[in-house]
Amino acid sequence: SLSPADQAKSAASARALTLVEDGMTLGLGTGSTAGWFVRLLSERIKRERIRVTGVATSSATVWLAEELGVPLCKLEDVERIDLTVDGADEFDANLNLIKGGGAALLQEKIVAAASGRMVVIADDSKRVARLGAFPLPVEIVRFGWTSTRRAVQELLNGMDVEGREISIRTGSAGPLVTDEGHFILDLHLGQINDAPRLASALNAIPGVVESGLFIDMASMVIIGKTDGKTEVIE
Ligand code: A5P
Repeated sequence: SLSPADQAKSAASARALTLVEDGMTLGLGTGSTAGWFVRLLSERIKRERIRVTGVATSSATVWLAEELGVPLCKLEDVERIDLTVDGADEFDANLNLIKGGGAALLQEKIVAAASGRMVVIADDSKRVARLGAFPLPVEIVRFGWTSTRRAVQELLNGMDVEGREISIRTGSAGPLVTDEGHFILDLHLGQINDAPRLASALNAIPGVVESGLFIDMASMVIIGKTDGKTEVIE
């Protein structure tokens, strides 16, 4: 039997699966919740013989989809994605998100932006009144990265946030390197009072590739509950 957390994640994934139609191209997210969606999708492909093509948002999701027999193609080989289903680290009532806890925020954002529709699957623990308790991931290029960190620090000094600490995400040997060859800063902000403003200000800094703030990108959040029920906000 499933743990309460897995019960919630699989319930949200099953609900998202009802949005999938034969012939669709699907963006496949990263993380444990998105992993549930890929698993349930592979079962439906086998059971109903629907033809769908997945576009993975990380090397981890490529491995999972390949192992489960979900057909994949590259984003550069498709014209558009019909639907992307992905997890999140936090979401608020406006459907704005923090993503990137799994270090895949750049591909996740590119795939979401190329999608007709982005649906988030999550459990209740990800719901917040204001974004920011989860450290905000910011992907930066390696060249001159300490200068970029300084510029981000200066930006934060003028921002309406609660905390201003910045850490560099580490892997097994020094800074973690993303799938696209960049570093990740984690911004410990506590509370972000103007997420859209912070998102555009971060993107204006040379050396910043993308932030984990997803503003106006999701059209629906499906919240899975530990009793197997779901709640939808859109
Ligand atoms: C990956 O970079 C993140 O954006 C994930 O969507 C996030 O970490 C959610 O993961 P879980 O579903 O495992 O909580």
